Amino acid sequence: MTQPAKGQDFIQEATENRSALDVTLRPQHFGDYTGQRKTVERLRVMTGAAAKRGDVLNHILLSGPPGLGKTTLAHIIANEMGTNLRVTSGPVIERPGDLAGMLTNLETGDVLFIDEIHRIPKTVEEYLYSAMEDYRIDIMLDQGPNARSIRLDIPRFCLIGATTRTGLLTAPLRSRFTLQTRLDYYSREDLIRIITRSCSLLGVEIDAEGAAEIAGRARGTPRVANNLIAFVRDFAEERADGRITRPVAGDALTLLEIDARGLDEMDKRILRVMAENYNGGPVGLGTIAVAVGEEQHTLEEVHEPYLIQEGYIQRTPQGRVLAPKGYEVLGLTRPASGQPELF
Ligand SMILES: Nc1ncnc2c1ncn2[C@@H]1O[C@H](COP(=O)(O)OP(=O)(O)OP(=O)(O)O)[C@@H](O)[C@H]1O
Ligand SMILES: [Mg+2]
Repeated sequence: MTQPAKGQDFIQEATENRSALDVTLRPQHFGDYTGQRKTVERLRVMTGAAAKRGDVLNHILLSGPPGLGKTTLAHIIANEMGTNLRVTSGPVIERPGDLAGMLTNLETGDVLFIDEIHRIPKTVEEYLYSAMEDYRIDIMLDQGPNARSIRLDIPRFCLIGATTRTGLLTAPLRSRFTLQTRLDYYSREDLIRIITRSCSLLGVEIDAEGAAEIAGRARGTPRVANNLIAFVRDFAEERADGRITRPVAGDALTLLEIDARGLDEMDKRILRVMAENYNGGPVGLGTIAVAVGEEQHTLEEVHEPYLIQEGYIQRTPQGRVLAPKGYEVLGLTRPASGQPELF
C-alpha cells in the first residue's frame, strides 16, 4: 500500500459504513481507480490545475448510489493533493458549534469530507454557506438582549460532499459546489477489472470466467463485488481447491441466493409484492416498504435505483410500476388486466 497522506492518522471516521475489506481494497490513486471515466477526468483536471497553481481545490459534490466509490474518491483527491483529509458525516454535525469546531481546526488546503451531506440539519446548513463561500462563519452567542455574533475566520479549505440523494439537497447548498458529478453503476468490463485487482490484492487465484461470473451478479457495484469475492473465496477454500472458477463462483452465489442477474432476495421480494399484491402498480414506495418490511429510504437508495436502471420497474408520477422485465424475473406474464397468470 502507498504512504497515507499527511495527517491521515487523525481522520475522524464518523458513521461511515466501511468494513476492513473496504479499506484493504480501496484504491489510493486515480491510476488504481477503475471506471467512472468522466468523473475521474474532471477531478484530474481540477486537482492537476490546483496543484500547479498551488491553490486550494474548489468544492466538489459526489453523488450516486451506495458502494460506487464516493468515499474512495475523497481519499484519492486528498492523497493526490497531498493534503489532510478530515472525514465526518451530515447527521453527526448536530449543532452549528460542531461545524465551527471542525472548520476552525482545519489547515489551509485541507479536504473536509462530509458524507451523507443531505442529512445535515437545516440549522447547520446555513452556516456552511458562508464557510464555503467566504471562509468565515458568524456564530451567535447568547440569546435575547445579550445576543451578539462573533465572526470566525476559517482557513481556505475544500469541501467534498457525498450524497446518495442529490434530490434532497437544497438548491443554495448544491449551487455552492463548483463541481457536481454523479457516479454511475459500473459496466461489466470495469467490474471484471476491479474483481481481478481485488483478488490479486487478497492473494486469491481467480480465472477470467470466474471474474466474469461474479461481475455479472454484482449489481454494477464495487462494494458488492468485493463482498461477493469474500464469500466466494471462502466457498472455494471449503468446497473446491481454493481457485475461483466459473462453476465455483456460480455455486457459491447460488448458495447466497443471488441470481444470474445479480438480484437478491429483497429485490425479488419487491417485484413479487408489486405483482401479487398491487397488480403491477402504480404503487407508492412507502406502501411497498411496509409490505416487504424494509425502511423506505433503503429501498430508495439501495434497491430501487438498480431495479429502475435495469428496467425491472419504472417510476411514474402515480407511483412505481412493474415493467415487463420485472414480470419475467418472477416467471409471470404481464396481465392485460386483473391478476397476473403463471406461464
Ligand atoms: N473505481 C473503483 N475501483 C476499484 N475499487 C473500487 C472503486 N470504487 C469503489 N471501490 C471499492 O468499493 C468499496 C466501496 O467504495 P466506497 O466506500 O468509496 O463507496 P461509497 O460510494 O462511499 O459508498 P457509500 O455511499 O455507502 O458510502 C471501496 O472500499 C473500494 O474497495
Ligand atoms: Mg462512503
